[in-house]
Amino acid sequence: MTHMNGARGNGASTPAITVNGLWKVFGKRGEKALAPEYQGIPRAEIQDALDCVVALRDVSFQVAEGETFVVMGLSGSGKSTLVRCIIRLIEPTAGEILIDGQDVLQFDDKTVNEFRRNQVAMVFQHYGLLPHRSVIENAAYGLEVRGVEQSERLDRAAAMLEKVGLSGREYAAPRELSGGMQQRVGLARALTVDPAILLMDEPFSGLDPLIRAQMREELAELQSEMKKTIVFITHDLDEAITVGGRIAIMRDGEIIQLGTPEEIVDSPTDEFVQEFTRGISKTRVLPISRIMEPPCCVASQDDSPKSVMQTMSMSNHSYVFITDENQECVGIATKEQIASCGADQQDSLENIDAHQPQAIPADTSIEKALPLIIGHDFPIPVTNDQGELLGMASQSAILEVIAQSAKDNAQPVEPAPASA
Ligand SMILES: Nc1ncnc2c1ncn2[C@@H]1O[C@H](COP(=O)(O)OP(=O)(O)O)[C@@H](O)[C@H]1O
Ligand SMILES: [Mg+2]
Repeated sequence: MTHMNGARGNGASTPAITVNGLWKVFGKRGEKALAPEYQGIPRAEIQDALDCVVALRDVSFQVAEGETFVVMGLSGSGKSTLVRCIIRLIEPTAGEILIDGQDVLQFDDKTVNEFRRNQVAMVFQHYGLLPHRSVIENAAYGLEVRGVEQSERLDRAAAMLEKVGLSGREYAAPRELSGGMQQRVGLARALTVDPAILLMDEPFSGLDPLIRAQMREELAELQSEMKKTIVFITHDLDEAITVGGRIAIMRDGEIIQLGTPEEIVDSPTDEFVQEFTRGISKTRVLPISRIMEPPCCVASQDDSPKSVMQTMSMSNHSYVFITDENQECVGIATKEQIASCGADQQDSLENIDAHQPQAIPADTSIEKALPLIIGHDFPIPVTNDQGELLGMASQSAILEVIAQSAKDNAQPVEPAPASA
């Protein structure tokens, strides 16, 4: 399940993070930038007029518990300022930040410290490991700060190092590790304190492309098990799509679009967002439901071969989807298979030697469905969340989208415009 849309808008629970009308203006006369006369004025002009930098401009969003929320934008768009405001490393100029419904901006110093120690953890691009401490001592650092006794904190750190694939390197020094491994230590350090919220500021940007791709996949996998609330920052839409549920795209301190990868790739708000989406293959973000058709012909396992033959002949179908009592697709049979079942005097389709297809949920990406059509002559059964047969995706429909997407991507890609 790549989409986490279900987590939002279900009304009942308090969002893990709520940001309302958040502003951060760097500079002495910063507050002036909030005045009505500067509304709609480009950031660069405000900067010239007031000698201040509008790093965040009326930013609002909510993150549901367990959601991976991605903030994407070019360098200088305000991403780091945003996460730093959330943990009060930067004091916002105006606005509201609620964590689990609690107003972070009202916290006194002691509460801020407790909040940072217990509820949130941060992973940065530059790993920030303590050079003279071993890997395991680095991973255990957050627990040490919390006052957890040594044997317990080392046990917990070792368990987390194993999760991020660093077993056997516990007593290495950070400098002996590659960048990718150092970032794994950074991740383990953040996770050992079991924070409710994980803030990740371009954690993989400093890594080689191959390692970066691997880390993204691993994070997505780890997250499917941990279900932390994550705010993940990146300047790369490809990365945003791999790790995240919803994506907020920032430009010049503002969120200019917020939506699922599908929404963003399908209907970018403006040319700027469109530039970002150009290199992204639609097949990665469009769900199979987009090209799904009703199943051509369906029979129950209990039906008699004779009646199924009649239906198939009348509707002129050459194959039939067979479902069990739970409406799950248990096979696809050709006319010949049904006929031979009838010839064997069987009174149902229960023992038919039919093709056993692999069904896929309707929100599976088209890209993930592609391998399933190779070597098969039948459409792929598509199911709802309960595993019930919902429809079918034909080979031709899948190949059509892939061909179209390859054509779109063959268009020359211009670099995204630099922001001020
Ligand atoms: N301490 C600061 N003082 C003045 N300007 C700052 C400060 N920190 C960040 N900025 C400016 O705020 C804008 C947003 O920066 P940042 O949040 O770091 O962007 P990003 O993380 O998206 O690259 C940039 O123009 C940056 O130069
Ligand atoms: Mg940054």
